[in-house]
Amino acid sequence: MKNLTVIAHPLVQHNLTRLRDQRTQPQEFRRLLGEIASLMIYEATRSFSLKKVSVRTPLETTAGSKLEREIVLVPVLRAGLGMLNPILEIIPHARVGFIGLKREESTLIAHFYHKSLPKELGRCEVILIDPMLATGGSAVAALDFLKEQGAKRIRLVSLVSAPEGIARVRKSYPVLPIFTAAIDRQLNKVGYILPGLGDAGDRLFGT
Ligand code: PRP
Ligand code: URA
Repeated sequence: MKNLTVIAHPLVQHNLTRLRDQRTQPQEFRRLLGEIASLMIYEATRSFSLKKVSVRTPLETTAGSKLEREIVLVPVLRAGLGMLNPILEIIPHARVGFIGLKREESTLIAHFYHKSLPKELGRCEVILIDPMLATGGSAVAALDFLKEQGAKRIRLVSLVSAPEGIARVRKSYPVLPIFTAAIDRQLNKVGYILPGLGDAGDRLFGT
């Protein structure tokens, strides 16, 4: 599928398997999710544009490169928080927005409870971060909001994706770049990803 990248790096897949393991406790879960986020962000930022600059070394002036656009990271609360700090370690100059969304258990409809975004999104590269893409309702709601707020260049980083969620995002955003570590089999009757890793927010925070 166009603009859908499955990050098959052995370290990502090794850590993902440990995240899936029901015996993995929150402390370890946080560490593993952080390591995966760091690895995924290399792939997710690979196509960012550079502009040419000149740089003066202690010896002479030479040609160099600079990122063309500012980067804005937008984790979806809560589970996206588990990927934020490790990514900030790699992109410390990024600005950060937050979107709070909670799926209602009975309807699986995601409701906003928090929105805060940096200004001038239109001139930035925006990375939407959420470990789970299940029905796709949360991702589409977040993407619609980012668009409304002027974002023009958005990519989605999602650790585990269901085919249903990818299809839903694709319906609204046919060419949006999506980076994931796994496309799982399907959703169960209550909207959880199979085989998945359970409730990412609960496992991350020990709720
Ligand atoms: C989880 C997950 C995603 C969403 C995915 O969040 O972190 O945001 O579900 O499901 P969807 O694709 O069907 O919308 P949840 O709403 O459970 O909130 P939480 O992170 O606070 O647990
Ligand atoms: N949210 C999760 O945290 N896990 C799922 O499997 C689906 C939605």
